[in-house]
Amino acid sequence: MKANPELDFETALAQRALAVETMLDRLLGSALSDGEINRPPELLAAIRHGVLNGGKRLRPFLLMESAALFDADGEAALRVAAALECVHCYSLIHDDLPAMDDDDLRRGQPTVHRAFNEATAILAGDSLLTYAFDIIADEATELAAQTRAELVLRLARASGIGGMAGGQALDLAAARARPDEAGIVTLQAMKTGALIRFACEAGAMIGSASRTERDILAEFGSAIGLAFQLADDLLDATSNATVLGKAAGKDKEAGKATLVDMHGVDWARTQLTGLVRQATELLAPFEARADRLRQAAIFVASRTF
Ligand code: IPE
Ligand code: IPE
Ligand code: MG
Ligand code: MG
Ligand code: MG
Repeated sequence: MKANPELDFETALAQRALAVETMLDRLLGSALSDGEINRPPELLAAIRHGVLNGGKRLRPFLLMESAALFDADGEAALRVAAALECVHCYSLIHDDLPAMDDDDLRRGQPTVHRAFNEATAILAGDSLLTYAFDIIADEATELAAQTRAELVLRLARASGIGGMAGGQALDLAAARARPDEAGIVTLQAMKTGALIRFACEAGAMIGSASRTERDILAEFGSAIGLAFQLADDLLDATSNATVLGKAAGKDKEAGKATLVDMHGVDWARTQLTGLVRQATELLAPFEARADRLRQAAIFVASRTF
């Protein structure tokens, strides 16, 4: 699907979301891949519940749009975008578990451990994390073997001990450790920023961008990643479950260390404006070709869900 610059942002986001959902629906079907023995129906149903249940699909969008900047938003980018969404959905399924944030509602529906059970939710997350690397490594992702290997490496680093999972560990510890501002920024750059940074950097990698261009996209991803979690924390403090499709007011209740808690809602709004400016300025070398990514930065900060 070719990017159409005429579309308004919401329509473009919805179009990319539909494409990635169609891909995910196919990948998460009952058909076995070579080497698989069986896909247990109950586990597959739980996985599908945790993935094919709405969601903004922002990370796939960022990946596809970053690839489009280098004229590479084809099937391979779509598959890598689907892989990234698998990691994201796994992170949500585990984030909602009783041992973590203990949430009952996600994307307007019961969380996976509520709709199924805890063990199945844990295994659904395990399966999705592993499957993400399967999708990228598969020859059906028509990229040079070296590029596929590098994408696997970058996604592993973004997801694991020094990225998302590590950030989640720091987030859970923060209720007692009470980190300072720099500590909160680091944990948020890990738990949320790393996957968003990967989305933007991976698009550049798929598009065979130069090292400089790739670094710019990665920095852009980091800036909007911080903005994304700040906006999430702002919404937690100011919105409600009907609009969000997930519980609100949870961060305060759980004693989460957030910048909104530390500095207040007005400070957070000003900070968001600054982060968007910083992010969009990074894209200056791409001129008008990066307008869709600029719009994405604005969406990240101003979103209401
Ligand atoms: C929620 O992510 C979790 C965070 C990292 C803050 P999203 O707001 O992207 O959730 P979905 O995918 O749209 O449901
Ligand atoms: C989640 O942060 C970050 C993840 C890695 C999933 P939150 O715990 O604030 O996300 P929500 O508010 O439950 O979506
Ligand atoms: Mg959490
Ligand atoms: Mg949570
Ligand atoms: Mg939150």
